[in-house]
Amino acid sequence: MNNRRKISILVIAIALLSALVFSYGLWAWGKNPQKKLSIGERFHYETSMTWRGVVGDLFRAKPKRPPQYKTYPETKVVKLPRPEYRGMSLEEIVERRRSVRNYSPKAISVLQLSQLLFAAQGVTGKMYGHPLRSAPSAGALYPFEIYLVVNNVQGISKGIYHYAVLGHGLELVKSGDFSRKITNAGLEQKMLGEADVTFVLSAIFDRVRHKYGERGFRYVYIEAGHISQNIYLQAVSLGLGSVSVGAFLDEKVNQLIGADGYQEAAIYLHAVGTR
Ligand SMILES: Cc1cc2nc3c(=O)[nH]c(=O)nc-3n(C[C@H](O)[C@H](O)[C@H](O)COP(=O)(O)O)c2cc1C
Repeated sequence: MNNRRKISILVIAIALLSALVFSYGLWAWGKNPQKKLSIGERFHYETSMTWRGVVGDLFRAKPKRPPQYKTYPETKVVKLPRPEYRGMSLEEIVERRRSVRNYSPKAISVLQLSQLLFAAQGVTGKMYGHPLRSAPSAGALYPFEIYLVVNNVQGISKGIYHYAVLGHGLELVKSGDFSRKITNAGLEQKMLGEADVTFVLSAIFDRVRHKYGERGFRYVYIEAGHISQNIYLQAVSLGLGSVSVGAFLDEKVNQLIGADGYQEAAIYLHAVGTR
């Protein structure tokens, strides 16, 4: 082979290699998470499941598992009546469900409240001695705590309460009228102040993160929807109106329930009232 031929082959080889490297660069840049991503895009990207991530997760440090049940030992658990109500068919409930933002001044009964809490997070069964709840939960890890801003419930004074899942009861966290504060925290959505009760669904992230790592955050948000839907459906069956609320000032709601916003944070609100 003469020198000219050798040089031409070399030039073609270099050109082909450069084209290959350039195309790979372009492809890799397209996939590169460091490319200007919004915080939401980045959250979704970084919590996406990949086989590499699944294997990597086995070796990644995870937080310790926090206690499964939050308690308020300084307050007495007020037992709620047994949730024995049987209402309309599921098909009818699904057909009738609507978000309701206007309520009558009539108070809801403690029986109705008991039924709503049971639908949201009541214990409905056991697996190897581990209580299972009314709404599904990734790995049955149950990250949610429920707080209530009680405004107008027969026989229960105004205040903020915590739902004691195991005893199906309420623990008083703070007494007083919080209707103004919850409305303000909910960007002045007036139904929050007019509702008989507002459910605050608050998550303790490490209950899920200790097993699922950062992807656990997604599971928490998904689970909030399950719980809220149960409240929606139960409210219809009880003849009540309700609406879920995702637009609120996180810090203000966290302050109301005593959550730090990191280990535990309010994820979703759900207002309920009579029609
Ligand atoms: C994630 C989420 C957040 C929501 N946030 C609010 C809210 O902040 N305020 C409100 O009035 N409704 C809120 N809604 C209720 C929707 O506005 C309502 O579901 C929608 O208008 C459809 O009406 P429907 O529920 O009657 O079918 C929210 C619903 C979802 C699923």
